[in-house]
Amino acid sequence: MLAAGQNVLHPHSPAAQKITDLWWVMFGVSVVGLALVATLLTLGWIRRNRASLPFGGGERGATALVIGLGIGMPLVLLTALFVWSDIFVIRSTAAPSPRSTSMTVRVIGHQWFWEIRYPNTAAVTANELHIPTHTRVDVEGTTADVIHSLWVPELNRKIDLIPGRTSSVLLYADRPGTYVGECSEFCGLQHAHMLLTVIAQPRTQFDAWLHGNVEPALASSGTGTQVFMDKCASCHQIRGTDAHGQVGPDLTHVARRTTLAAGTIPNDRTHLAEWLSDPQHVKPGNKMPQVRLSAADRAALVAYLEGLK
Ligand code: CUA
Repeated sequence: MLAAGQNVLHPHSPAAQKITDLWWVMFGVSVVGLALVATLLTLGWIRRNRASLPFGGGERGATALVIGLGIGMPLVLLTALFVWSDIFVIRSTAAPSPRSTSMTVRVIGHQWFWEIRYPNTAAVTANELHIPTHTRVDVEGTTADVIHSLWVPELNRKIDLIPGRTSSVLLYADRPGTYVGECSEFCGLQHAHMLLTVIAQPRTQFDAWLHGNVEPALASSGTGTQVFMDKCASCHQIRGTDAHGQVGPDLTHVARRTTLAAGTIPNDRTHLAEWLSDPQHVKPGNKMPQVRLSAADRAALVAYLEGLK
């Protein structure tokens, strides 16, 4: 819904460029192969009542043609494409060795959101992955439940997040910007609403963001805070408070995110109020229960959450 600029053919990193190049070459080879086969078939059909080959020769010539064009050429072409894709593309787009990585980020797939952690810091967020530009970021992907697949087409290939395993992929953005990713493995009812937005920022901006995220939430004690501690704290965490729930996303700085529910709705007061009054209507099947709240309590809760900058 909020996705824009998701194009495999618009690479913004060296890895994505290699994948795009490979795609064009495979496309080109397929087109030439198809044209060749179609031409031979047409020729064969036109000459179906004649016993001889168009360039002379008998049975032997026909056998040579079948072996050469029908078996030899596909074998050579497919082997060449396999070697190129495996050795030159897949390996070079795989995660680099730790020595060459400037930064590690952990991404954990959930039904249906992405939990994002920055190792060695207290920073936790959801669905919006901030990375510095011109930095090799090693993403370590795991899952909290079923198989998900993390894919940011403009930055690199996809990786499957498989229970019990850690997969990794290198993300590198050559310019600041927003790169839209998706879950690309069917993972249940809301698979389609599992957006991962990568926000690539110049180093200083990224550092400021990370520094801000590490900070706990500002202390507050209004009605909204009370309602949250009563109704939401068993599932959500707000660092610096008594809310330590781990079922849903960390909400310490939720007001800084641009969307809610993994890109399903924009993050503003109206949509948040709608979400709180009936989350199953907005995103059917998600784990957020419908919490009964008076209109006043809901308004106070919205004000509290939207104040978590
Ligand atoms: Cu997660 Cu599809």
